[in-house]
Amino acid sequence: MTPSSSKLQLHCFGLFLTLTAILFHVSANEDRKLHIVYMGSLSTKEEYAPSSQHLNLLQGVRKTSSAENLLLRSYGRSFNGFAAMLSDSEAKRLARSKEVVSVFPSITYQLQTTRSWSFMGFNETMVRNSVSESDLVIGALDSGIWPESESFSGDAFGPPPKKWKGSCKGGRNFTCNNKIIGARYYSGTDSARDDVVVAIGAFHAMDKGILICQAAGNEGPGLGSVSSAAPWILTVGARSIDRKFIDKVVLGNGLEIIGSSINTFDPNGEDFSVINGSQGKTTKCIDMLANTCMEDCLNNTLVKGKIVLCDDTSGIMEAKRAGAFGTILRDNGMYEAVPYPVPIPAAILKSDEYDAVTSYMQSSQKPIAKILKSETIIDSTAPLVADFSGRGPSRIVGDLLKPDVVAPGVDILAAFPPNLARVRHPSDKRSVEYNILYGTSMACPHAAGVAAYVKTFHPEWSPSAIRSAIMTTALPMNSTANYGAEFVLKITDN
Ligand SMILES: *[C@@H]1O[C@H](CO)[C@@H](O)[C@H](O)[C@H]1NC(C)=O
Ligand SMILES: *[C@@H]1O[C@H](CO)[C@@H](O)[C@H](O)[C@H]1NC(C)=O
Ligand SMILES: *[C@@H]1O[C@H](CO)[C@@H](O)[C@H](O)[C@H]1NC(C)=O
Ligand SMILES: *[C@@H]1O[C@H](CO)[C@@H](O)[C@H](O)[C@H]1NC(C)=O
Repeated sequence: MTPSSSKLQLHCFGLFLTLTAILFHVSANEDRKLHIVYMGSLSTKEEYAPSSQHLNLLQGVRKTSSAENLLLRSYGRSFNGFAAMLSDSEAKRLARSKEVVSVFPSITYQLQTTRSWSFMGFNETMVRNSVSESDLVIGALDSGIWPESESFSGDAFGPPPKKWKGSCKGGRNFTCNNKIIGARYYSGTDSARDDVVVAIGAFHAMDKGILICQAAGNEGPGLGSVSSAAPWILTVGARSIDRKFIDKVVLGNGLEIIGSSINTFDPNGEDFSVINGSQGKTTKCIDMLANTCMEDCLNNTLVKGKIVLCDDTSGIMEAKRAGAFGTILRDNGMYEAVPYPVPIPAAILKSDEYDAVTSYMQSSQKPIAKILKSETIIDSTAPLVADFSGRGPSRIVGDLLKPDVVAPGVDILAAFPPNLARVRHPSDKRSVEYNILYGTSMACPHAAGVAAYVKTFHPEWSPSAIRSAIMTTALPMNSTANYGAEFVLKITDN
């Protein structure tokens, strides 16, 4: 999972889903949405052929034209049902068929280190049970992994546990090792290799039974925004850790302003001219759009080698395209921005601080500034629930407290596919093996790791017992600073 935890003698296998095929179909059928038609348990009759029955059923509500290209998948192994592109009226008609139990729209779940483990209280000297660790198999269900990542190296591992009966069928160019002991892929791809995302992630199945760790969704901070709220799932929200990335903007008048971004560029003491978007605009753009650094609004000749101010964080792409040395961006968001890696020197400032830069510019004939390389500071406000983290309560059962716990999910060091040529922005051509990422998908692996740790001391515990142990030993959060929040995952020595 991480450089430091890769020593953990856990064997992983992966079941990887790729959603691209499904998403493609969604865009090609705009008035139809992907639905799951659930038909209950499988018929025990030998001659039963689920897929032809599914097609007949679908054809029944389609009437005129062929239904074949609407059927995306027939399920005939663990339950009876299928996935198909349906209009609202077709979904309603299907739901009335006597063979069908329920029809519901498919939900695309968000796919969802170094400092975070110690901040959770899980340090290098923790008591470990290496014997049962090497006998533990962890399953991950996610969009895939990059098997060559150093984090998944099997070098320090012995052979897979004897009880392992799975196989390595990760598809094209996917080799397993003593850490990744098995892999499979499904749905519209030819490999379990992931070049979309990232950390081994969001869903973990423990051997003998299943403990699904599911991320709480990054859809927004409103109450009731939590997804994956089923009672048997460990639902994990994201929170900050006490390591915070900042970067400083130093103006020509000596004023130092703290911005937020992960900026790896060192200006080596050099100052650069600062201009705003309208000073650097092309003739065809109006000032208002140029000031946000709208696409194709900056004149390469005018901005080259300068720091350009953009009234919106999206301006970073245009500043880079036009060859600006760097950019200072206004964060117009309601919520505190999570620092993210930037492709050119860039600092994201809160509105008040951004205004301090513009007033300096108005007062100076030749405004200059430098954007310093990011540094980390200790954030004494941590742990705070991340602004983007899904929140409870469950929309299905209101008195069910969800997420169950929060775990580190802000600016976490995570394995990254090196071929991605996209640290965050499409134009960022740097290739990295580790990246700083955020999301509830970063939080979930921490909780899965804790579940595995508990299991090594109590191999006989059921997934529910492990989930219960995690929840009942978590620490309460500061409810003044985190409205409505209750528990923070923290490992203590007892
Ligand atoms: C397999 O993938 C690795 C990692 O991207 C790459 O270096 C290698 O060339 C690939 N091999 C083949 C046969 O495609
Ligand atoms: C951009 O800079 C020019 C020149 O200093 C100034 O007149 C103008 O008001 C600035 N625009 C904004 C939006 O700050
Ligand atoms: C860009 O600025 C240069 C220098 O002022 C000018 O000659 C050129 O016409 C401008 N180009 C556009 C597209 O505005
Ligand atoms: C809880 O948060 C509030 C508001 O941020 C703060 O004033 C208070 O000191 C915190 N309490 C503890 C125990 O940290």
